[in-house]
Amino acid sequence: MNNADLYNKSNIQQKTGALQYLREYYDVIQWKKNSLVLDIGCGDGSVTSNVIKKSIPYCKTVIGCDVNEDMIRFANEHYSSESVQFTVFDIAGDLPDALQERFHHAFSFFVIHWVQQQENAFRNIYNLLQKDGDCLATFVGQAVFYDALRELAKRKKWKIWLKDTEKFISPYHDSSNPEKQLREMLDKIGFSFIEIHYKRLSFEYESAELFQEAIKALTPFKIPEDIFDEYLDELFEEMQRIDFEVYKFKKSTSEWVHNFHMFVLYIKK
Ligand SMILES: C[S@@+](CC[C@H](N)C(=O)[O-])C[C@H]1O[C@@H](n2cnc3c(N)ncnc32)[C@H](O)[C@@H]1O
Repeated sequence: MNNADLYNKSNIQQKTGALQYLREYYDVIQWKKNSLVLDIGCGDGSVTSNVIKKSIPYCKTVIGCDVNEDMIRFANEHYSSESVQFTVFDIAGDLPDALQERFHHAFSFFVIHWVQQQENAFRNIYNLLQKDGDCLATFVGQAVFYDALRELAKRKKWKIWLKDTEKFISPYHDSSNPEKQLREMLDKIGFSFIEIHYKRLSFEYESAELFQEAIKALTPFKIPEDIFDEYLDELFEEMQRIDFEVYKFKKSTSEWVHNFHMFVLYIKK
């Protein structure tokens, strides 16, 4: 995911999802007054500023963090204000002392599937939260996109570009019981309340072009511009084939439907 500008124009799926789940959990979350809020993996900052800051009550400051320096530069240029700040931080890395136990609420939309060191990430989330603090997170589990990526990575034409694909596949993609796997880890870390929904979703883009732009913005591989469209064509063809033959999804006939499983996780310290 190298292009903050493109991501900014094509993150409709993420914006829609963040808004939907903030609304669903609005009456569940016990909002703290003058709260300090963390947005983990804030990307370009648009969801932090336009969705999280605007949707939640009593919020004093939202801090958006992301491992990608370009995203944080873009977020600072376009979305920072007195009450919305951005900083570079790896949620699976070492936790600075200044951030320990500071946050009343944390959110993370479409991020945690990028993190291979799941236990480090959730242990950090636990340590970032104040006592009684909570976290609402959505992230991908199994997805046809990952199957297609693995298939392309075997092909002679693409394997020089698709390096280290396993690093970008959700740690839950191959799991026989993703909910159990996640719950056991969260229990071990010590969260006092754990609610997990694992949903099969079909997100329908308005056009094939929008879907392609969204995938392009999320592509972590350095595929040359002149063959990128070819890569997307093969990837989409493979996604449709697998959707249809393996998963028997009815909507696989449409070119711009993204079928995947997603966690909606709500945890309290
Ligand atoms: C699909 S974007 C989601 C951005 C934003 N949450 C949204 O909903 O629009 C995923 C973001 O997670 C960030 N990310 C991936 N691994 C991370 C990590 N270990 N720590 C912090 N951010 C990470 C990526 O750099 C990227 O900006």
